[in-house]
Amino acid sequence: MKLEDEVAIITGGGTGIGKAISLAFADEGAAVVAAARNVARLEEVANQIKSKGGKARAIQTDISDHQQVKRMVAETVKEFGKLDILINNAAAYSYNNADVPDMNLDNWYDTLTVNVSGTMLCAREAMKVMIPRKSGVIVNVSSVAGISGHPTESPYCVSKWAIIGFTEVLAIEAGKHNIRVNTISPGATRTKEFEEMITALANKRGITEEDMWRKLKASNSLNRIAEPEEIARAVVFMASDDSSAMTGHNMIVSCGFHLIHPQEIHRL
Ligand SMILES: NC(=O)c1ccc[n+]([C@@H]2O[C@H](COP(=O)([O-])OP(=O)(O)OC[C@H]3O[C@@H](n4cnc5c(N)ncnc54)[C@H](OP(=O)(O)O)[C@@H]3O)[C@@H](O)[C@H]2O)c1
Repeated sequence: MKLEDEVAIITGGGTGIGKAISLAFADEGAAVVAAARNVARLEEVANQIKSKGGKARAIQTDISDHQQVKRMVAETVKEFGKLDILINNAAAYSYNNADVPDMNLDNWYDTLTVNVSGTMLCAREAMKVMIPRKSGVIVNVSSVAGISGHPTESPYCVSKWAIIGFTEVLAIEAGKHNIRVNTISPGATRTKEFEEMITALANKRGITEEDMWRKLKASNSLNRIAEPEEIARAVVFMASDDSSAMTGHNMIVSCGFHLIHPQEIHRL
């Protein structure tokens, strides 16, 4: 097993990609702390792990609240004795935005607060317990929207670009403490949230969902989108010693989605 006896916090660990990461980490022997706001979904994942003999804990946390983030890290260390891995996966996303002049400003501020400040707060508190042990791994989840401009999505896009920059800064600062920091950038990935977005986009464009899916898949060089479990396997690699010489890296896992010019995607 690649993560035996490691202790990992996975933010947003109760749904979608985060849930797949939580389950994959448990399968690799890690004790998993799933953290987000909806505690019922976290408990479901924790119970699923425990029913297979693994170690898990659900900790209700709003990552944009500094005190809640401090409590998340403190409770993790109290229960499992240490923190080896932080997966900064939680994010706010609104696919119903607009060009900048008409953009919803509340959405701009909320998205940057959760995605950028929340990511920073979790990394900051995790590093405080990793530094004395001279050991740790942080993986920040960005997106293909963090490597190119996506029209009408500036809040999300800007937040995901910021995560890649933050990773580079942190990787330099944390290297002297033997802490590795990397980014993973998924492309279109089949989560409930993503499927709902496709339905909404199909309705907005007046085409069938089937047509929307067909066009989307055709925009990926592998002619399909990724499954959450495929992203999770890449995160296991980045959290484990298999990537022991990697830091400050942004790994794209997108079925080739990132190769298409983003404006093409928005013309779908
Ligand atoms: N699916 C895709 O196609 C895709 C593509 C590229 C990148 N990504 C990235 O992958 C990550 C996971 O996304 P997903 O597709 O799996 O969507 P998702 O299921 O909606 O996951 C987002 C998670 O973030 C949590 N969250 C949101 N705001 C939070 C807050 N303030 N505090 C704590 N937790 C919060 C949510 O839980 P609560 O609501 O319970 O708090 C939820 O579990 C995100 O970073 C996303 O940007 C996804």
